[in-house]
Formats: sequence, C-alpha cells, structure tokens
Amino acid sequence: MLYRRMPIEVESPEQLGYDSIRNNLSESSYTDAFFRDIELDSADPNHPGAFNLRDLVLCYGDHAGHPGLRQLIVDDTSLKKDDVLLTIGAAGALFIIATTLLEKGDELIVVRPNYATNIETPLAIGAAIKYIDLQFEEGFQLDIEKVKAALTPKTRYISVTHPHNPTGVCLSAEEQRSLINIAEQHGIYLLVDETYRDMVFGEQLPIAATHSERIISVSSLSKTYGLPGLRTGWLICRDQKLMEQFLAAKEQIHICGPVIDEELSFRYLLHRDKYYDRIRKDIKEKFTITKNWMERQTHFEWVEPQGGCVCFPRTKDKHTLDYKLLLEKYGTYVGPGHWFDMPDHYMRIGFGWPTKERLEEGLAALENCLIAR
Ligand SMILES: Cc1ncc(COP(=O)(O)O)c(C=O)c1O
Repeated sequence: MLYRRMPIEVESPEQLGYDSIRNNLSESSYTDAFFRDIELDSADPNHPGAFNLRDLVLCYGDHAGHPGLRQLIVDDTSLKKDDVLLTIGAAGALFIIATTLLEKGDELIVVRPNYATNIETPLAIGAAIKYIDLQFEEGFQLDIEKVKAALTPKTRYISVTHPHNPTGVCLSAEEQRSLINIAEQHGIYLLVDETYRDMVFGEQLPIAATHSERIISVSSLSKTYGLPGLRTGWLICRDQKLMEQFLAAKEQIHICGPVIDEELSFRYLLHRDKYYDRIRKDIKEKFTITKNWMERQTHFEWVEPQGGCVCFPRTKDKHTLDYKLLLEKYGTYVGPGHWFDMPDHYMRIGFGWPTKERLEEGLAALENCLIAR
C-alpha cells in the first residue's frame, strides 16, 4: 500500500507547534481537557469510591475494548455493548473499516469535502472513489439523487459525515433514511462518521447504527470532549459477522487498546453529564461570537453550521486569504481549503477550541489578511 501524508496532518497545529500559534482557529475539536479534569471518583454503583490509576493492572485488555466503556457508549439506546468495538480514535475505526470492506478495484461513494482518512485509506488500497461534491451554493446539502447515480455493482459502501466536517451541516432524518434504504436495497454498507454527533445544535438523531445492520457508526471522545490525546474511538455495527472481521483487523494491528486510555475514558464517561452541559454551553457562546462576527463583517460568507464546532466560510469578491501573513503578523491559524481538496479561499474555522478572547482576536485578524485571488 502506498501511504501518503495528508496536508491536514503535515500542516496540523500540533506539527507546527502549539507555541507558535497565538490564536488557534484551526482545530476541529472542543478545547483540550487536562488529565486533572478527569473525575476519578466513580459515579458507577458497581465501582464506588475513588479510583487510583496506580492500581491499574497493565495487562492486555479485552480485545474489543473495556466492557464498561463499551456499555456506557450505548447506554440509553437499543444497542448492545457487543455492537461496539473500541479503536484508536475514530481514525483507527475508519482505517479498520476501509481495510476490511475494500479491495483493489472496489468502489465507494464518498461525500466531499471529507475527513482525509475517509479518502486516503481507500485510495491506498487501490479502491476507486466516486465523489459527491457538496456545493456552497446548495448550502452544502447532500443530493441523494447524486448518490443513487454514483452506485455501480462494484460499490461497497457510502461514506458520509454527520454533522459534517468542515461545514457543520447535518443530515436530516429523511436523508439518513434514504441513505439506509439505498444501502439495504443494494446490499452495501453505509458508513456514518458521527464524530461530531454530540455537538448537534438542534435535535439529535439516534446513533445511525441503531437503524440497520447495514450501518457502521464511527465516533470518538476527541471532538466534543476535547480528549484527542486519549485516542479513544469506536465503531458500532449490529452485523456480528462483520464485527468479527473488524475485531480480527484490530487484533492484527495492535491486539487491544491501551488500558490506561480506556480506563480514563471509562471514568470520564461515568461523569459525562457534568462535562457535557458545560461544554455545550461554552460551544454555544463561541458559536454566537462567530455568528456575530460573520454578520458584522462584509468580506466573508458562510453556510451557517447546524452542529459541531467548525464552520467552512469563504472569501467574497475575488479575494483570498494571505495565510502566511495571518500567522506571522497576527499569530492566527485557520484550516486552508486545500486541507479538504477545496480552493484556499475557503477555510475551516474551528470556533470551539480557542478561548473566547483568542477566538475574537483571530476572527478580527482575518479581515486584515485579504489579498486578490
Ligand atoms: C470527521 C472526522 N472523523 C474522524 C476524525 C479522527 O479523529 P480521532 O481519531 O481523533 O477520533 C476526525 C478528526 O479530525 C474527523 O474530523
């Protein structure tokens, strides 16, 4: 397999050095949490009292992942813990899915822009991608007819993201139903990357995998909870035969997940409500700052996001952004369009990660860095 490094990874803020950026508006997650933020007192009646990480046995863990954590992920749903496979981030889940479902010459349908792994791993395998390109002018809405037209006997799965990264646009329940119908009728799979699902502004759709054995849902603790360093992700699927294959793939890559990460993730999710309410409130306030700025200025336009903590505006009037000036003079970093196979007058702005002060300063800097396209 020929792996290529993706611009979004090469140019990521962590590779650039967090210290070299004052206003980091390039992140796709909520503000990173500290280890000390994780509540180690147990809210679980089966595990009462304080938990001492130093007592953790550093054995191989359950190959599917920490059973208590898998159960918490599907609490309050009709899904079972055995429908969940823990992975190394959502990225690990996407890799496992692509390498399990695809062979050279297969086809898949990918809604674009998309998170780069949803594209690069299939390409490395030698699969052919039929892209459904979302258009700004169409409010980045998915046209289901285009998906139907892209189907061929070689199609193995359809890959969508809800809420969408980088636009923050959500699938409606009807659109999701139509995609499920397509998958069921054609005997293919529907991959729903739900990494941003917990940040939907309006009513939340159920985890997609609850609806059909033909759906694979993917998510992680990275984005909503600001825990990308724990590398706790998962895939959910009710097709147990397929789950066995996913587990085999995981075992061949790294046997099991890191027990420390899984235990910390378990402890974190036991207290999820406490963190979640605070995070949602903060994201809402930062979204309002971004929306107010968008309405005040005249050089940028956007499709207002319906969820997540990113948006994907573009410059108007034959302008683009001088990204070098933006960083070097104004200490501000946003995700340029080419991270998403789009022209650079589009940009991803992550409004959930920086403090409100840094967000406001970064947004104000954007207008100082316009140049002719
Ligand atoms: C849509 C989407 N899926 C998956 C990932 C991978 O995230 P992680 O592996 O940290 O869960 C990202 C990260 O940016 C993403 O935006």
